[in-house]
Amino acid sequence: MHTTVAIIGGGPAGLLLARLLYRAGVDSVVLESRDRSYVERRQRAGILEQATTDVLRAAGAGDRLDREGLVHDGIELRFAGRAHRLDLPSLTGGRRVTVYAQTEVVKDLIALQLTDGGPLFFGAEVHSVEGAEGTRPVIRYTREGQEQTLTCDYAVGCDGFHGIARAAVPEAARTAYERTYPYSWLGILAEAPPVHDELIYAHSARGFALASMRTPAVSRLYLQVPNGTDPADWPDERIWDELDARLALEAQPDWRLRRGPVTQKSVLPMRSWVTEPMRHGRLFLAGDAAHIVPPAGAKGLNLAVSDVVVLARALELWHTTGSEALLEAYSDTCLRRVWRAEHFSWFMTTTLHTDPDRSPFDTRLQLAQLDRIASSPHAAAELAANYTGPPLTATG
Ligand code: FAD
Ligand code: DHB
Repeated sequence: MHTTVAIIGGGPAGLLLARLLYRAGVDSVVLESRDRSYVERRQRAGILEQATTDVLRAAGAGDRLDREGLVHDGIELRFAGRAHRLDLPSLTGGRRVTVYAQTEVVKDLIALQLTDGGPLFFGAEVHSVEGAEGTRPVIRYTREGQEQTLTCDYAVGCDGFHGIARAAVPEAARTAYERTYPYSWLGILAEAPPVHDELIYAHSARGFALASMRTPAVSRLYLQVPNGTDPADWPDERIWDELDARLALEAQPDWRLRRGPVTQKSVLPMRSWVTEPMRHGRLFLAGDAAHIVPPAGAKGLNLAVSDVVVLARALELWHTTGSEALLEAYSDTCLRRVWRAEHFSWFMTTTLHTDPDRSPFDTRLQLAQLDRIASSPHAAAELAANYTGPPLTATG
């Protein structure tokens, strides 16, 4: 079998790339190792930047997003027992974010692809990408117990951090930049109405907490926990008590979260990581296959989207004119946005979390920074511009 673009991985990056290419008249095949229901249920990100929602709409995946997505005009920062709201549109010239879970984005893109798109194979596990330096890369994969081969003009690794595509780039041809953090997040989904109609990011001496949501009836909540934490050590009541303690307000001592049944609980480690360049010959890397951010900036999914928008435009130009100019620029174009997001995610992480090895001086610096954001429109505008994300232009 041969296709123009072989896409390895059917997460948000792979599915959206397939959709954008289909609309541009470029053939592709998506190979996804897991089954459909697993991919649709994997709990992950929840915040879409304005540019991401614009792209999804333009790709024809905006109907349910517009009906069910919750548009947010602000976020709240809590520290030293006080709450400070950042009004996103007034700080950014009108930009907002939307709460719409990654699970829903993935469901919408899969439904579109299966009714009106190119081949998308579930249960297709890719083992190798060969010949990226030649003119016709070869993808080897197993599906329904059979070894299969797919040749292509271009291969794209959208197979996440644990994928195999990156290994097709010789070690001497790539450089990894990495930082790990001395804490993780314990995340829960709960059948409880969100405590507030906007997200609350809280810094406290007990650790970071984040109150987010999925729908008006479902809360998504996170607590900073030590690395290696076993979720079994956190019974539901302990989680609720700790969230209440970290989100406490001095002026409202009776303030409490609304509790409800916890339906999902997991621990997420935290990492900053970038591999450069994002291209080797006819193999491109996009999304988590090329970079990871710690989640406090809510950037992972949005970066996956911006990578594939840049790549789809570049492949479309090559397909219609034969020009490889945008393909040549792909890695540099993406890395500029990636490093901006890496910096912002590191900044949010280190400003809001409580490092177990911190000194009292470090804590004072964090509080000074948070106070600056709460009191200076310039500092608030910088955070808001990064949080809502830059527009996606022809050059990224
Ligand atoms: P992925 O979503 O990882 O998709 C990769 C796909 O490739 C998967 O479907 C996988 O099954 C498939 N695949 C892998 N190997 C192969 C193979 N050999 N052959 C075929 N298919 C393969 N971001 C936030 O902004 N906020 C969050 O709260 C948040 N929480 C997260 C929690 C977890 C546990 C993780 C891992 C990530 C989280 N992220 C979060 C980040 C965000 O979800 C990712 O940035 C986003 O999923 C990236 O999309 P992707 O398509 O690049 O990769
Ligand atoms: C969510 C996750 C994040 O990492 C974040 O910064 C905001 C919201 C969420 O899952 O809702």
